[in-house]
Amino acid sequence: MRHFLLLALSAAGFAGAAGAVDSPQPPATAPVSTHSANPLLGLPPVPVPANNPQSQAKIALGDKLFHDKRFSIDGTISCASCHDDDKAFTDNLPVSVGHHGLTGTRNAPTVINAAFYKFQFWDGREPDLEGQSKGPFINPVEAGLPSHQPILDIVRSDPDYKAAFQDVFNVADAKLTMEHVAKAIASFERSIVAGNSAFDRFYFKGDQTALSEQQKRGFQLFLGQGRCVSCHVIEQDQALFTDNRFHNIGVGINAIQADVPRLAFAFLEAKNKGGDVDQMVLTDKKSSELGRFAVTDGISEMGAFKTPTLRNIALTAPYMHDGSLKTLKEVIIHYSNGGVTPATAPVNPYLSGGIRPLNLLDSQIDDLVAFLESLTSQQYLKPTAAKPGESHE
Ligand code: HEC
Ligand code: HEC
Repeated sequence: MRHFLLLALSAAGFAGAAGAVDSPQPPATAPVSTHSANPLLGLPPVPVPANNPQSQAKIALGDKLFHDKRFSIDGTISCASCHDDDKAFTDNLPVSVGHHGLTGTRNAPTVINAAFYKFQFWDGREPDLEGQSKGPFINPVEAGLPSHQPILDIVRSDPDYKAAFQDVFNVADAKLTMEHVAKAIASFERSIVAGNSAFDRFYFKGDQTALSEQQKRGFQLFLGQGRCVSCHVIEQDQALFTDNRFHNIGVGINAIQADVPRLAFAFLEAKNKGGDVDQMVLTDKKSSELGRFAVTDGISEMGAFKTPTLRNIALTAPYMHDGSLKTLKEVIIHYSNGGVTPATAPVNPYLSGGIRPLNLLDSQIDDLVAFLESLTSQQYLKPTAAKPGESHE
C-alpha cells in the first residue's frame, strides 16, 4: 500500500518527492549502451546471470547472430525479421510471418527491455533469454530449421564466427554448442534496454514540463479510475509496467470459449504424449488461446497472458498476444468495456477479477492514450517533422 500512497501523492503534483531523492544509479553491471546518456532513467539494474556476464565483444557477436538470415530454412528469416531494429524491435504485424510467408498465432513482442521479464513469451513458457533464443530457429512457422545442426555447421566453419566465438568463449569446433550461440544472443538482448521517457523525467526527476496537462490527467487515470497500475506496476524508484504475472483480460478467449473443456483436455493429452508446447501454441490458433494454461495445466490460468511492459507502447502496434487490437484507443475501450471487444460480447468466465467496466468518458480515453504516448524512450522518438526534401521512413 505504501507504494500506492506515494504514487497517489506523486500524481497529485508531488512528482519528484517519491523518485528524485534516490534516482537510480547506473548499475555496476550496466550493459554497454550505444544510446543517449542516462538510458536507464526509470529502470532497475539489468539482471545478468552469473554464468553469462556481459562484454562488448559478446554483445557484438550476439548482434551479428540476431541479424543472420542464414539460420533459417530458406535463408530469408533472422530474429530481426520479426524484431526489427527500425520498428522498435517488433514487426508491427498482427501475428508474425516466418519462412515461406507462414504465419504464426501470436504478435511479436518487442525485445526492448525483455531482459527485465521474469518469464519470456506471452505465456511465460521460457524462464530466460538464453532458453528463449533457441526456440525460433527450429519453430516450424518461424525460421523452420529441422534442427540446430545447420547453425552449428555455419558458426563452426565461418571464419568470422570462428574467430569471434574463440575470442568471446574460448571455444571451437565440437565444443562450440547452441549454449554459446544462445548466450551471445541473450547478451545482445540485454543491451537493448531503454528508459528515459518523458514519463521518467516527470516522475523520477520531478520535471513538471515533461508531460502535457492531458498526459498528467491520463497518468491520474492510470493510477486511479483505470486501475492500470495494479498490473502495469510503477515502483518508487523504477517502473517496468509489469507485475510479471498472468491475467485473463478477455482477449482472444471468446473464439474458443464454448469449446474450452474439450480443447483443454486434448491439449493436455497431446502434451503428455510428448507434444512440444512451443510448436503447439504457435501453429494452432485455438491452442494459442489457452494462454498460461498451456504451460501450467492450471484451469485458473485459462486464457491468461503475461502483463507486458508498456514502455515504447506507442511504437509497437498492433496490440495484445494475438495482435487483435489495432490502436491504443481500441485497447483502452476494451478495458473500459470491462474486458470485452466489441462492447456487446459476452464476458468470459475466466476473466481476471482485476478487470471490471471502467465506463470512461471519451475525453478520459484520449487522456490515457496521451499518457501511454509519454512512455516512449528518448532514443526511439522519431523526429517530429521531416526536413524539406527528406522523406519519412
Ligand atoms: C517469425 C517471427 C519471429 C522470429 C523469426 C523470431 N521471433 Fe521472437 N517472437 C516472435 C513471436 C510471435 C513471439 C511471441 C511468441 C509467444 O509469446 O508465444 C516472440 C517472442 C520473443 C521474445 C519474448 C519477449 C517477451 O516479451 O516475452 C524474445 C526475447 C524474442 N522473441 C527474441 C527472439 C530471438 C532472439 C529470435 C531469433 C533467434 C527471434 N525472437 C526470432 C516472433 C519471432
Ligand atoms: C488485471 C491486470 C491488468 C490490468 C488491470 C490492466 N492490464 Fe493492460 N494488460 C494486461 C495483460 C495480461 C495484457 C496482455 C493480455 C493479452 O495479450 O491477452 C495487457 C495488455 C495491455 C496493452 C497491450 C500491450 C501490448 O504490448 O500489446 C496495453 C496498451 C495495456 N495493457 C494498457 C493498460 C491500461 C491503459 C490499463 C488501465 C486502463 C490496463 N492495461 C489495465 C494486464 C492488465
